[in-house]
Amino acid sequence: MKFFVDTADVAEIRDLAATGLVDGVTTNPSLVAKSGRNFLEVVAEICALVDGPVSAEVAATDFETMLAEGRKLSRIAGNVAVKVPLTPDGLKTCKALSDEDVPVNVTLCFSPAQAILAAKAGAAFVSPFVGRLDDVGADGMGLIGEVVDVYSSYPQFTTEVLVASVRHPMHVVEAAKMGADVATLPPVVLRKMFEHPLTNKGLEAFLDDWAATGQTILEPHERPSAEAAE
Ligand code: E4P
Repeated sequence: MKFFVDTADVAEIRDLAATGLVDGVTTNPSLVAKSGRNFLEVVAEICALVDGPVSAEVAATDFETMLAEGRKLSRIAGNVAVKVPLTPDGLKTCKALSDEDVPVNVTLCFSPAQAILAAKAGAAFVSPFVGRLDDVGADGMGLIGEVVDVYSSYPQFTTEVLVASVRHPMHVVEAAKMGADVATLPPVVLRKMFEHPLTNKGLEAFLDDWAATGQTILEPHERPSAEAAE
């Protein structure tokens, strides 16, 4: 399963990319607004930090303007995935850009019927929003299961299921059990995935016991800080 990070915060992306666990990035207009930065500059910076796909969303709603915006965004870097909304014009744009070999992420997917349309339009990714469905009393993870099931019956569908609107680590675990291709995680969720109280407690005990042995693995001159000072 691939992990994308769902943010337009370049510092966060730099920090998380250093873990080696980040396969791509998703942004949306709300995340760009939150960053307070110039959209095109932010996309360029993110694309330079991460090798994998970086989703950048169009702002128009009509086909001609979305297509022009998508082409402009795709010229920023080779790893831009143009994000379009799941509307008739959005899917028309998806088809046109996909035919030009520009990867497209179809966003705001809330039903299996919509996911089928995205696949038929040649989307590289479809983004079903689990958290927003849960928020209205629907079954977000149920949608992921349905989309994964439907796509698995059609090998000609190459669209990857990108689980979006993720709110907590169990969304990620459930998505992985269902075989979703990608989850896009807000940084806070990715950080939470590392955490377990027994890990902290166990590490504390190991460190205390190790200190009691009086041993060290590295000689003072072998420590990274010493090597860096040389
Ligand atoms: C990512 O591509 C989506 O835009 C994002 O996951 C939406 O998340 P939200 O529902 O928390 O805004």
